[in-house]
Amino acid sequence: MFEIEIDSNTPLNVFYDTLNSQLASLLGGERDLICNAAQFSAFVMQTLPELNWAGFYFARDKQLVLGPYVGKVACTRIPFGRGVCGAAAHSQQTQRVEDVHAFEGHIACDSASASEVVIPIVYEGDLIGVFDIDSPKVRRFSQADQEGLEALVTTFIESTDLEWSF
Ligand code: SME
Repeated sequence: MFEIEIDSNTPLNVFYDTLNSQLASLLGGERDLICNAAQFSAFVMQTLPELNWAGFYFARDKQLVLGPYVGKVACTRIPFGRGVCGAAAHSQQTQRVEDVHAFEGHIACDSASASEVVIPIVYEGDLIGVFDIDSPKVRRFSQADQEGLEALVTTFIESTDLEWSF
């Protein structure tokens, strides 16, 4: 249903624009946080090549707690400031790491991971959590990938009720 043929001649920004339209359509009509977080993780894993993990950590009392994801089992809690996810949470800036083994403090949940992008999810100035994407390939993510992934996360934020409520 959401398979995308990647033509190696297609510029990455066009590829991500296509993905973003499909994502808006996938998430349209549903605003539940857990539901959309699960769908978004699966959508990213299904449409982007060379990934081994994609998913969420949500901010809880100065820690990140594991949320919906696709991939191998992962660390459940990460303090703000620890690892790549903690750096994204602490700084509220996207972290793009070309080689995780050269990143001091990297937390190896899946030993296959070699490069990583972590994008903070900020709503009305508050940190809601982070979206983490891992690849088994060193230097998998370019600046264009980062911008494309940030645009996908923006669509997720706009499509979802981010207030936590049970
Ligand atoms: N590598 C991350 C931890 C989360 S896992 O990759 C799923 C980090 O250093 O924060």
